[in-house]
Amino acid sequence: MPFYNQDLDSGEVPQAAAALRERVAGADRVLAVTPEYNGTMPAVLNNAIDWLSRPYGASALTRKPFAVVGATPTQFGGKWSHEDARRSATIAGADVVPDLVLSHSTLDADVFEDAEVFGRFLGALVSLVEHRPAAEVAA
Ligand SMILES: Cc1cc2nc3c(=O)[nH]c(=O)nc-3n(C[C@H](O)[C@H](O)[C@H](O)COP(=O)(O)O)c2cc1C
Repeated sequence: MPFYNQDLDSGEVPQAAAALRERVAGADRVLAVTPEYNGTMPAVLNNAIDWLSRPYGASALTRKPFAVVGATPTQFGGKWSHEDARRSATIAGADVVPDLVLSHSTLDADVFEDAEVFGRFLGALVSLVEHRPAAEVAA
């Protein structure tokens, strides 16, 4: 997917970006699974959020329940990546529950197979409903 550029978003958008927007628009909620790069989210995730943030106010992310999860080998578990992804998604218009984040400090402990922890995390995301008015969803 090309890096976001308003010049590319003025007419027919690149196929990969259009497909991402369509996929997210049709989803009930979004779970971003990401590592951390140099203390923030990787550029590919940031770029995906950028594409999903436009048209602003009526984008695929507008009022979409959003959560982020990940594990890294460092002691901080990718928390800056997760914090930044949550802030960016919030500014893009998504409904991000502030404490809905799962950072894990080692790749050895597989957070995705810890049924209790991951179940609680997913349960909180599933309990979020999209707050988009029905008329808007139909359009
Ligand atoms: C360029 C680069 C920067 C990284 N920066 C961080 C970091 O700031 N914090 C962290 O916890 N891990 C960091 N890591 C470790 C990654 O989280 C870890 O290698 C992860 O498994 C990479 O996943 P990927 O191969 O899917 O990109 C970094 C790795 C790379 C390659």
